[in-house]
Amino acid sequence: MTRRKLAAGNWKMNGTSANLAELDALAKAHPTPGCDILICPPATLIARAAQAVPDQIAIGGQDCHQNETGAHTGDISAQMLLDAGASHVILGHSERREDHEESDADVRSKVVAALAAGLKVVVCVGESLTEREANNTLDIIGGQMAGSIPDVVTGENLVVAYEPIWAIGTGKVPTLDQIGDVHDFIRARLERRFGVGVGRSTRILYGGSVKPSNATEIFAVSNVDGALVGGASLKASDFSPIIAALESA
Ligand code: 13P
Repeated sequence: MTRRKLAAGNWKMNGTSANLAELDALAKAHPTPGCDILICPPATLIARAAQAVPDQIAIGGQDCHQNETGAHTGDISAQMLLDAGASHVILGHSERREDHEESDADVRSKVVAALAAGLKVVVCVGESLTEREANNTLDIIGGQMAGSIPDVVTGENLVVAYEPIWAIGTGKVPTLDQIGDVHDFIRARLERRFGVGVGRSTRILYGGSVKPSNATEIFAVSNVDGALVGGASLKASDFSPIIAALESA
């Protein structure tokens, strides 16, 4: 089964209108990309980003509320993201789980809402350093997958991102064996729960300090179908070589 690779950028709480020029540069550098490209800018830029970029770059949100509408000041629904021009949404990022105390059950209901609205979801899982040092990594990942991913997913609308918390924004990266072990485990869990068809067509991204200098070796690891990139997705000059590395993986 060949899965189309995915280079995804998570801008987090970075970017104002001036940064839309980076999307322009990215689109010009990759007119016919050999992989899918997704950029998730802050919510304030989604509509303009979606209008500015050509079709080869998808735009996504970084979170959504589980309800369609209602009295939830400051929140954004999946329908609103779709209406603004987003096709994807990141859910369950460790920064949301930590800053906003999102539980697996919260993430799961957001995934259900996003899929019902017609968005594709990038569900994030990942262990803390304490959990890794206690040899609990696979238990944690398995638990997060069971709790955060609902039954209704398909290989087309689900992407799983493995992001070890201790590797995010730290410059620390797991060994290639450690990445491979977790990605193989995620693949096996997906196949066991959803069957081989869905399990083998779901893309699994690695995230955590991916840079132009380490992208090629990470993309050569088994069951790594792309990356979810934070800091190095903010500038086209950093993200473009990561995309190129993925295209030739
Ligand atoms: P960095 O690439 O900045 O480590 O962030 C990874 C991440 O959290 C992407 O969602």
